[in-house]
Amino acid sequence: MLVYLNGQFVQDDAATVSVLDRGFIFGDGVYEVWRVVRGKLFESARHLRRLQHGLGELRISPPPLADANELARVAKRLLAENDLEQGEATLYVEITRGTAPRAHAFPPAGTAPTVFAMAKSLTLPHDVRATGATVITTPDVRWLRCDIKTVQLLPNVMAKQQAAEHGALEAVFIRDGVVTEGSHTNVFGVLDGELRTHPQNQFVLPGVTRDVVLEVAAACGVPVRQEAMHEKDLDRVTELFLSGTTTDVMPVVRINDRAVGDGKPGPVARRLYEGLRERLNA
Ligand code: PDD
Repeated sequence: MLVYLNGQFVQDDAATVSVLDRGFIFGDGVYEVWRVVRGKLFESARHLRRLQHGLGELRISPPPLADANELARVAKRLLAENDLEQGEATLYVEITRGTAPRAHAFPPAGTAPTVFAMAKSLTLPHDVRATGATVITTPDVRWLRCDIKTVQLLPNVMAKQQAAEHGALEAVFIRDGVVTEGSHTNVFGVLDGELRTHPQNQFVLPGVTRDVVLEVAAACGVPVRQEAMHEKDLDRVTELFLSGTTTDVMPVVRINDRAVGDGKPGPVARRLYEGLRERLNA
């Protein structure tokens, strides 16, 4: 696989980062994942804005790759040279605060950020989408800036592993009795006839797919309330689904071994998935 590291295109086995990289030592960096359909980045500007927001919040100076034209140039070459211009793929970008002797405070001004990008093919779980997914719930032990897409994903890793060990597709985080989001997805429910999802604040990632789903819902006339669901609401939702760049819209039919609604994917999730799919194919 050809990857991009600090301005160079190199084979992945030759792409190496220092052991003193602050991403390795402190998890001091941000990342972004774009969906690529037939060589085109989906909602490119929104993902880039979120990356720029993260860099700003962490006070990491934006490297050239955080610019739209440079991102497009690098993405084009990675997709072309890795034979990913047809079908589905993802583009991953990671930017850390760079390499410096280990000390918690920021390294001297002018320390170059480490900048990495790779593209790989994406296989979507359409078989699970047809029957509906199982999820578990787990305590949200993450920090209070979940709006920043940092590479510090240990709580997400532990939660997703817990889900995998229960034969579930995703772990849904619960903070103080409130449903926040999944380990790598946003969460929606249909409650009292309204589409519900956690409001955009420091407790959840502002998902790009979430935004598109909300736009599709508005266009379809689905009533939406951006208000968090409580854990106990999960007993009475008629539908539940996940959204994310590598998940699309995924209906959930079981939570902690209890059926959601009639135990089958529901009509709202189906409509919103179709609307998202149209946008992806456009
Ligand atoms: N994850 N919430 C969290 C915690 C996430 O990590 C993600 C995405 C989402 C969905 O956001 P979006 O619709 O913009 O992908 C929500 C990516 C795909 C990942 O970590 O691989």
